[in-house]
Amino acid sequence: MTKHVDPDALSEAGARRWVRVWDLPTRAFHWSLVALVATSYVTARNGWIDWHFYAGYAILTLVLFRILWGLVGSDTARFARFVRGPKAALEHLRHLMRRAPDDEVGHNAAGAAMVVALLALLLFQAGSGLFASDGLFTERPLAHLVGADWSDRITGWHGLSFDLIAIAVALHVVAVLAYGLLLRHDLVRPMVTGWKRLPAGIAAPHMAPAWLALGMLVIAGGVVGALVWL
Ligand code: HEM
Repeated sequence: MTKHVDPDALSEAGARRWVRVWDLPTRAFHWSLVALVATSYVTARNGWIDWHFYAGYAILTLVLFRILWGLVGSDTARFARFVRGPKAALEHLRHLMRRAPDDEVGHNAAGAAMVVALLALLLFQAGSGLFASDGLFTERPLAHLVGADWSDRITGWHGLSFDLIAIAVALHVVAVLAYGLLLRHDLVRPMVTGWKRLPAGIAAPHMAPAWLALGMLVIAGGVVGALVWL
């Protein structure tokens, strides 16, 4: 006879198991993005403009990839699964101080809002870089399409959005550290290994196949390549 196991009873009893919550493409995307954002900052500061361009193209490719992956990828990567409105984000923050155990399978509602903001800012930052010019480095791929005035204006926005990214990244990192230090929710380990301990009754999310991620990366790279070199 099959014994029925009540998931609630299991989680109440504290039974937990390791569940894969982040797929490799999402994790590789995240840590490559961190390295590339740092590279684009250092190269801009030092005037290594060719490398700044390459870092920007790579960031644009990654962000386009992540948007596609958010449409067709694994459950926890899909926008439709994790993007909730501002009300849900505020509700999540209001309940934080209850210090409940971390049972989130993917992004929590507040984290999701930050993810969307970061992706939008990075898309704007890398996209605007294609049109920017500053009188010294006039050979940016799409600057000629908009003319000098607009290119100057866009260059100003490119600088402004970098400041916004710096603020957003600082908030993001402080939030991740605060979850760890104040609530004992370790968000970093799952983003590194992919695995997280969750109540045994929680179903593992579906992981999309690696070939699909590769396909999305090729499409994203193709779009950026076409924008830059055609
Ligand atoms: C340039 C710096 C960074 C950028 C642009 C950035 C951006 C992002 C983005 C876009 C996501 C969403 C991932 C996805 O769904 O694809 C994310 C998630 C995450 N990031 Fe970062 N990140 C940065 C630095 C860091 C650092 C330094 C840490 C570690 C302390 C970190 C820890 C995390 C964690 C733990 C998550 C998952 C949060 C969750 O569980 O909901 N990030 N980050």
